[in-house]
Amino acid sequence: MASGDAAAASLAGRRILLGITGSIAAYKAAMLCRLLKTAGAEVRVVMTPLAKQFITPLTMATLSKNPILVEFFDPENGAWNSHVALGEWADCYVIAPATANTLAKMATGVADNLLLTTYLSARCPVVVAPAMDLDMYAHAATQQNLRTLADRGVRIVEPAEGELASGLSGKGRMAEPDTIAAFLGGLLAEKKKTLNGKRLIVTAGATIEAIDPVRFISNHSSGKMGYAIAGELAARGAEVTLISGRTALATPPGVERVDVLSAEEMYEAATSAFDEADGAVMCAAVADYTPAEVSDTKLKKGDGELFIRLRRTHDIAAELGARKGSRLLVGFALETDDEQAHAESKLERKNFDFIVLNSLRDAGAGFQGDTNKVTLIDRSGREELPLMSKREVAARIADRIETFFTR
Ligand code: C5P
Repeated sequence: MASGDAAAASLAGRRILLGITGSIAAYKAAMLCRLLKTAGAEVRVVMTPLAKQFITPLTMATLSKNPILVEFFDPENGAWNSHVALGEWADCYVIAPATANTLAKMATGVADNLLLTTYLSARCPVVVAPAMDLDMYAHAATQQNLRTLADRGVRIVEPAEGELASGLSGKGRMAEPDTIAAFLGGLLAEKKKTLNGKRLIVTAGATIEAIDPVRFISNHSSGKMGYAIAGELAARGAEVTLISGRTALATPPGVERVDVLSAEEMYEAATSAFDEADGAVMCAAVADYTPAEVSDTKLKKGDGELFIRLRRTHDIAAELGARKGSRLLVGFALETDDEQAHAESKLERKNFDFIVLNSLRDAGAGFQGDTNKVTLIDRSGREELPLMSKREVAARIADRIETFFTR
């Protein structure tokens, strides 16, 4: 089955709530609705009051074969349109088009129409397909709102570049209905529990090495890549222990999280959990050096220079590599120069089964962002992946882990 067919197949019988906001692109929501219905999905539609100016409820009711919901209650008979019930009904809530206004309200929790109250009470995955003029899309406020939503788990179908209703050309045009339908299909595809019964450890985030009670040495790791991997492995049925340095992220569903601060604490937690595990993914950015002495009191500033003596920390990955036997061990390498050679030498030195190389030289790769560009390297060769979301990278890594266990 082609991947597009597979995505369409996973829409059959699923309940999709389609939210429409007031954008010229609302006409494309009609096509999206038709595609979803053709793929066998049940569709209900909720519109903002302004959306009715762009596409008629009659059109959407006819296509979805369900009455359209706009108001909190029916003015004719007072029947209540329950946002809680709608949110519970849906397997997925897709807001397409999503205007800058609605994205801003979603990011700040404004609840002044049915589309928004439904968003706030939805427990299902939420997807937005932004549609707006290029400057509105590029504006720092909109970008900040999108980041806020993405951090809370909202999935974003990126707008495309092209001609806009304003007559200008640029990024902001809503993704095409077939792109959105394929995205929803992929999202709703049942994850096969291929890692059932496997116990896996994931280390993630930055460690913190205290200098005194106030200062510390750390790094820019956000933990996003490791958290995405932990979530993906758990979704495939693995029992996942996430040993996490400092991050601002929510624990992925089904994952057991152990919080640590220093490299030493991470070493203790990882080595003891590894005894019972089938494998480990070493995604944390662990400090290689820690202050040799930690002052009990805040260091006072003097006139001259200050020297802090550092000692080596344990290399957790190398330690697990030495004792792993036939178990799985996956490493990461973040390099700034001579990437390939450094990664290959780490693969050997730390006894990894494969290593994920990301280079700080690549745009969109590295610490804080939601995308990554990686190369997977094992003893039989290398696979260079294109720029993709960290979730997608996590899925590709999980595919390799599955292959490892089915050898
Ligand atoms: O040698 P380098 O630190 O670049 O190796 C990176 C890999 O080793 C990553 O997988 C990282 O999580 C792991 N590592 C570790 N313990 C350390 C240092 C790195 O587990 N002390």
